[in-house]
Amino acid sequence: MVNKIEKKPLEFFREWFADAENSEPGLAEAMTLATSDQTGMPSARMVLLKEATEKGFVFYTNLESQKGLELAENPKVALVFHWKSLKRQVRISGVVEPVSELEADAYFASRARGAQIGAWASHQSRPMKSQFDLEKNVAKFTAKFGVSKVSRPPNWSGFCVIPTVVEFWEERPFRLHRRTLYRMENGNWSVSHLFP
Ligand SMILES: Cc1cc2nc3c(=O)[nH]c(=O)nc-3n(C[C@H](O)[C@H](O)[C@H](O)COP(=O)(O)O)c2cc1C
Repeated sequence: MVNKIEKKPLEFFREWFADAENSEPGLAEAMTLATSDQTGMPSARMVLLKEATEKGFVFYTNLESQKGLELAENPKVALVFHWKSLKRQVRISGVVEPVSELEADAYFASRARGAQIGAWASHQSRPMKSQFDLEKNVAKFTAKFGVSKVSRPPNWSGFCVIPTVVEFWEERPFRLHRRTLYRMENGNWSVSHLFP
């Protein structure tokens, strides 16, 4: 069964996200991000959702990390939220677009100073000889910025995942779970229901 409905997946997501913020404070925004390299080999890791807008789902990272390099080659991604206490899962597939420089600057400026220094100090996903390498970098950039504003590193920014498929899964007794699938088709969201 497929039919067009008014309610968009963003509204559905916001309802569930609000529930998750109440029942899993501090963890609701954790999501798995799957990317893949040029050979199609997938990799997945957790990132934090910073914003969910009409356009998509925003996270921030180091552009030279494994995920950053993979996204530069292949913008197709998947996201998964799992809210254990609610027995709910949301799966999203889509394509990333970089956030604007202004958005990235604004979000970076809102972060704690220690996290801002950390963004300069960490060559995310690159090998390091020991923890001391990281500590030396933290000391170096702490000294460099002194009491002045910490600018955003050029290799640190955000991506917006523009969804094309969003699935809401909710646990039900006897494994008769409820699955609601939204798919973007010709500029409209269609909705269907899947066997669990
Ligand atoms: C709960 C949680 C949230 C995280 N949030 C972020 C994040 O928002 N951005 C980020 O770059 N890494 C985040 N990380 C670290 C990533 O999972 C990962 O270790 C790191 O980004 C390097 O990934 P990569 O080598 O695949 O690029 C988070 C880890 C956890 C456990």
